[in-house]
Amino acid sequence: MASMLRFNGRVVLVTGAGGGLGRAYALAFAERGASVVVNDLGGDFTGVGKGSLAADKVVEEIRRKGGKAVANYDSVEEGEKIVKAALDAFGKIDIVINNAGILRDRSFSRISDEDWDIIQRVHLRGSFLVTRAAWDHMKKQNFGRIIMTSSASGIYGNFGQGNYCAAKLGLLGLSNCLAVEGKKNNIHCNTIAPTAGSRMTQTVLPEDLLDALKPDYVAPLVLWLCHESCEENGGLFEVGAGWIGKLRWERSLGALVRQRTQPMTPEAVKANWTKICDFDNATKPQSIQESIGSIVEALNKINSGGGVSANPASRATSAATSGFAGAIGHKFLPFYSSYAELDTIMYALGVGASIKEPKDMKFIYEGSSDFSCLPTFGVIFAQKSIMSGGLAEIPGLSIDLAKSLHGEQYLELYKPIPRAGKLRSETIVTDILDKGSGLVILVDVYTYSGEELICYNQFSIFVVGSGGFGGKRTSDKAKAAVAVPNRPPDAVLTDITSLNQAALYRLSGDWNPLHIDPNFASLAGFDKPILHGLCTFGFSARHVLQHFADNDVSRFKAIKVRFAKPVYPGQTLQTEMWKEGNRIHFQTKVQGTGDIVISNAYVDLVPASAISAKTPSEGAELQSTFVFEEIGRRLQDIGQEVVKKVGAVFEWHITKGENTAAKWTIDLKTGSGKVYQGPAKGSADVTITISDEDFMEVVLGKLDPQKAFFSGRLKARGNILLSQKLQMILKDYAKL
Ligand code: NAI
Repeated sequence: MASMLRFNGRVVLVTGAGGGLGRAYALAFAERGASVVVNDLGGDFTGVGKGSLAADKVVEEIRRKGGKAVANYDSVEEGEKIVKAALDAFGKIDIVINNAGILRDRSFSRISDEDWDIIQRVHLRGSFLVTRAAWDHMKKQNFGRIIMTSSASGIYGNFGQGNYCAAKLGLLGLSNCLAVEGKKNNIHCNTIAPTAGSRMTQTVLPEDLLDALKPDYVAPLVLWLCHESCEENGGLFEVGAGWIGKLRWERSLGALVRQRTQPMTPEAVKANWTKICDFDNATKPQSIQESIGSIVEALNKINSGGGVSANPASRATSAATSGFAGAIGHKFLPFYSSYAELDTIMYALGVGASIKEPKDMKFIYEGSSDFSCLPTFGVIFAQKSIMSGGLAEIPGLSIDLAKSLHGEQYLELYKPIPRAGKLRSETIVTDILDKGSGLVILVDVYTYSGEELICYNQFSIFVVGSGGFGGKRTSDKAKAAVAVPNRPPDAVLTDITSLNQAALYRLSGDWNPLHIDPNFASLAGFDKPILHGLCTFGFSARHVLQHFADNDVSRFKAIKVRFAKPVYPGQTLQTEMWKEGNRIHFQTKVQGTGDIVISNAYVDLVPASAISAKTPSEGAELQSTFVFEEIGRRLQDIGQEVVKKVGAVFEWHITKGENTAAKWTIDLKTGSGKVYQGPAKGSADVTITISDEDFMEVVLGKLDPQKAFFSGRLKARGNILLSQKLQMILKDYAKL
């Protein structure tokens, strides 16, 4: 059996203990060994009159039962005197039960100044004065337990009790503060909202209920909360009839209604109202730090354009997630951006291109005869598209962006990035993975100039603390990082980042204050602002391009990186590179510390021979070319499996205008499958004729092949049913 909770040696002051709830508390404490000060002014329930009878009767009852008690007849407005009575009689004060109360019920317009004031004075100010008088004694002895008496009327509102509701909820505010201030001195303050039959409630409660709702059914909660073994602090409890429940704050996930570059409007509030008031996945903040933390996060999101935060491991902790129905496949609104030569130069400087290196002039001087845009500039529009706010709007996925890390990045180019242009980016949530300690959201961004696909990005966004939902760990849609070879690197290039590197890089569009504002950096757990992961990425890609492709941007095909650790501006980056055919594996370290900051990375180069041999008539300007090449590349890994599933040869006639511009064969019948340019070497099971543009639409999932067939945009000869299998392959393996 649990041991009895005793209060031997404790001195308890109960205000308004001459009747009702206060009396029940006083008797219960005394019965369990406490010395009790029974305070009561002895007036009527509206606060008129006074007398000693009420308190005396309770003291007498306690003493009769062998307990220790003294009476005090002061109003709680004389808190000092009441506490002095405790000190005089028992030498100390351990527990204060602020219970005294009166009513002056009036509908709002009829509340007189006096009715208002007396209610505040007795309930709120009285509790303040009594508690303040006891506070320093409690601090000194490093022990104190305080109860504030609130009311359901204050919590929920009640007709005719404006003055009372205000005072009662004011007490909760006071209690919340005392819980925080008293904690370090073992002073706990809790609040109760009781329901009990008493003279106060006899006018509102029916008689049988009055009898049933005994004060004795409230007292045990008060005793437990005041026991030295009770850890509860800052709680709010509804209690009555033998039932006790705890209350807490709940806050909806809310909505961001402001964007960095735009004013906040009431219309935006209206448009987001449902979301603001939606309590699905609501949080339960427990402290002002948590509350303000969310506001700071919101500010952070707004300042960074609502996007992805820093790449390296921060001190992030959690993010709420719910079902992902509707999230996978979700498309963001198309994002339009334009840029000029100035922007590409600024980017090049941001990732360390310099006049120190003559071969870099082509990236930083628009007057150079071969002026070019660095290939990795291709992440910039994609990132802007993601940061335009869509990440926070994914249906069925509530992620805390401030706790999201940029884990990995893949970029593939279909042609060199123009020196200036207007682009459209289309963003889609491709998959969501469960990595245990967190979840990974794969976001694909396709960027077009007009109808032409320029580049494709895949962002892997790691949301710390949201994993373990029983989802899959891997996805065939993910562009995998690849370990570097196990031998000394073939080449190593180093570059010192400047102290202003992040300040310069951010001008390309990643405004996250984490990279410039020391306060934000420290909030995120860093000593000082860190370099953008994508800035390091730009440095490394430049090294590969410089060393293995003589800065020829047309040879840059793709890059994949994993962000491993933060870099601070001023540190020296060291890119270690290994050449394996046309793939340059690399990792990037911080010189001095040896920390690997980018790992498992590679750049795929277009073979130099392919560049010089390709002529436009061979389909170099067809978008489909790159898809076929990509399918060919992937078949190297998964060909056998696909051949087993499909077992057919597909011949493609890709048209441009009226003409057949290219023929391709996808052989998924022989060996481990292959893709080659030209008609089928044996016989084709299906021959498909489609325009270059429509082919891309099909691959990107925008055009249903069956609809294309019935509308005549796609023509097929042979075993047409096999095209359905093809659709599966295109969808699964040709996602660019
Ligand atoms: P009650 O009227 O029986 O007890 C209140 C006691 O406080 C009375 O004995 C009264 O003389 C004393 N008092 C009034 N003004 C005082 C002052 N200035 N200084 C010292 N003592 C004073 O009422 P009950 O129901 O026991 O109420 C106790 C507390 O519980 C009150 O704060 C009340 O607002 C609160 N409460 C009670 C509910 C209930 O269902 N009984 C509901 C919600 C809150």
